[in-house]
Amino acid sequence: MTEDRQTQSISIAHRQSGRGDIGNGIHRWVRTAGLRSVPSITKTDAGPKTWSGTGCRRGCAGNIVLIGNEFLEYTLCCQRLGKHNQPVARDCREEGRMIRFGLLGCGRIAKRHSELLGGNNIERASLVAVCDNVKSRADALGAKFNVQAYDDLDAFLARKDIDAVAVLTPSGMHPQHAIACARAGKHVVVEKPMALRLQDADDMIRACDEAGVKLFVVKQNRFNVPVVKAREALDAGRFGRLILGTVRVRWCRDQAYYDQDAWRGTWAYDGGVLTNQASHHIDMLEWFFGDVVSVHARATTAMVKVETEDTAVATLKFRNGALGIIEATTAVRPKDLEGSLSILGEKGTVEIAGFAVNQIRHWNFIEELPSDKVVVENFSVNPPNVYGFGHQAYYQHVVDCLLHQRAALVDGLQGRKSLELISALYESIETGQEVALRFEPRRSRLGVIS
Ligand SMILES: NC(=O)c1ccc[n+]([C@@H]2O[C@H](COP(=O)([O-])OP(=O)(O)OC[C@H]3O[C@@H](n4cnc5c(N)ncnc54)[C@H](O)[C@@H]3O)[C@@H](O)[C@H]2O)c1
Repeated sequence: MTEDRQTQSISIAHRQSGRGDIGNGIHRWVRTAGLRSVPSITKTDAGPKTWSGTGCRRGCAGNIVLIGNEFLEYTLCCQRLGKHNQPVARDCREEGRMIRFGLLGCGRIAKRHSELLGGNNIERASLVAVCDNVKSRADALGAKFNVQAYDDLDAFLARKDIDAVAVLTPSGMHPQHAIACARAGKHVVVEKPMALRLQDADDMIRACDEAGVKLFVVKQNRFNVPVVKAREALDAGRFGRLILGTVRVRWCRDQAYYDQDAWRGTWAYDGGVLTNQASHHIDMLEWFFGDVVSVHARATTAMVKVETEDTAVATLKFRNGALGIIEATTAVRPKDLEGSLSILGEKGTVEIAGFAVNQIRHWNFIEELPSDKVVVENFSVNPPNVYGFGHQAYYQHVVDCLLHQRAALVDGLQGRKSLELISALYESIETGQEVALRFEPRRSRLGVIS
């Protein structure tokens, strides 16, 4: 295949396969997209080895952009997917492939994400662009990691070389941003909580399914090593029957914290301590103890002037018969005290504390194992800040899922499950009643003898 600007037929690409990057790239596209042939491929002005192809034999608008043997973007033909011109998730399984991330939202938590992705701390991942509607924030982060900064979402999403976007905007904006990313064919990594309303969570899941992209919800504490160890003990049956689970979030968030951004402490964009700070811990309680049958919760706003609660308590009944307690507050003064999870079973007790569920405080089992001593000695580290160490392991997991087509530990459905529990807690707070979880049909003829 010559490098001149011209239109080539797929037969030329086939003849050239094995000889050049472009031929190999076309082969990959044809194989991955399940196409029978590609009628034309054209050299573009975008770069020295950049070619684009359009159309498939069935007359639909298939499309490809190639740089060398790597395809940046393709769309499948409509007969195969049942829809026209939809961007389809990039196939990331090729040997040596990097996952290229963009960050949407350049605020506080973007610091952590950008340090990991932009600082080469995640294997086979890179940061290629950042976006924030406040230009100065995008520019500052872009300059720090030498990547392009955008204040226009459409221009950011139009970049062909972004495989996945981390959505780091205020919580109430996650749905609109995650859906826009999915529709642009990008995999979505959305910070917790994935949304504030179940309907929005459903829309996000549907948008990602329709676009054929993966949806990941950031619950990095599940990847804290002490938590992983406790989960292994649970899976091995070492706790026996579960009796009581408790999570405690005792953090300090003063008025200045809430005042720094208009969205904080609002019903529309943030929620209270249950939705924001304690959503990790609530997720973890359900992950360890299983489905919740009912909740009873109370809340108050004790120390700051905001719409939502800064302090809440709740009791839970799990389907397996265990009971649960949530204690969550940002009204601790003068500084953070703990973020903890305790698991009490008939054959063992584990408490993981520290600021961010990261430090083993108690590890006691009736049937001891030689490895127990090592676990206690090695995993009693309290991280320097409340975000903990989990984001790094979390990102490595995301990259692994994308490279090897593995299922996400916390996908859209898992994120939704946690939001359902949080929604039930609020309904209990507002009604003063115990609230049952899971849908129970009140009007259905299915299975009813008339
Ligand atoms: N996993 C964790 O431990 C953790 C920790 C902190 C925050 N978070 C979550 O991350 C999210 C962001 O929190 P934060 O503390 O970084 O907030 P922040 O306010 O510091 O950052 C949000 C950024 O989004 C930008 N933004 C707002 N609207 C936008 C739009 N339309 N387009 C582009 N950018 C827009 C803002 O300008 C801001 O820079 C929240 O959902 C929060 O719950 C998670």
